[in-house]
Amino acid sequence: MDRTAPSDPGTPPIRYVESLDSIEPAHLHGFFAGWRHPFAPDEHLRMLEGSDRVVLAIDTETARVVGFVAALTDGVQGAFITLLEVLPAFQGQGVGQALMTRMLERLSDIQTIELMCDAGLVPFYARFGMTPASGMVLRRREP
Ligand SMILES: CC(C)(COP(=O)(O)OP(=O)(O)OC[C@H]1O[C@@H](n2cnc3c(N)ncnc32)[C@H](O)[C@@H]1OP(=O)(O)O)[C@@H](O)C(=O)NCCC(=O)NCCS
Repeated sequence: MDRTAPSDPGTPPIRYVESLDSIEPAHLHGFFAGWRHPFAPDEHLRMLEGSDRVVLAIDTETARVVGFVAALTDGVQGAFITLLEVLPAFQGQGVGQALMTRMLERLSDIQTIELMCDAGLVPFYARFGMTPASGMVLRRREP
């Protein structure tokens, strides 16, 4: 699926896609901003290929991926949103909201959607009807 959303004047038009067709590591630079151990673009692409659902935001002027969200699901009961990120230069323009909205539409047949996030992001995810819950995590390497 391929949808182009209207953008503010001065910001490039963003196309939202739900497949990895034509996506190469070169389109995936600049993500994992602020991570101590950021994934390289080729690892990022492998991560997206290993996901059950992905939505990408693409700058139509450069073909560069400027935001993405990925999820794993059993197809019935549960889905876990593994990563959501918008490149810093594209934040605050509605891209994160559009990615989450599209991903939740793609997971509309799944009963429970989960993700882990820092406390500061609770208000962002609450916009989609999500509520805080406790969880456990084993990090083999600090992000
Ligand atoms: C979190 C993130 C995906 C949001 O994407 P974004 O494109 O900047 O967000 P949007 O512009 O779509 O914001 C939509 C709305 O949510 C609000 N919002 C954005 N981030 C927020 C936050 N951390 N807390 C509360 N509200 C937030 C915006 O103010 C906006 O509100 P408005 O519609 O009333 O103006 C982005 O900041 C990001 O990539 N951060 C770094 C990676 C990260 O933290 N990912 C989440 C891992 S769990």
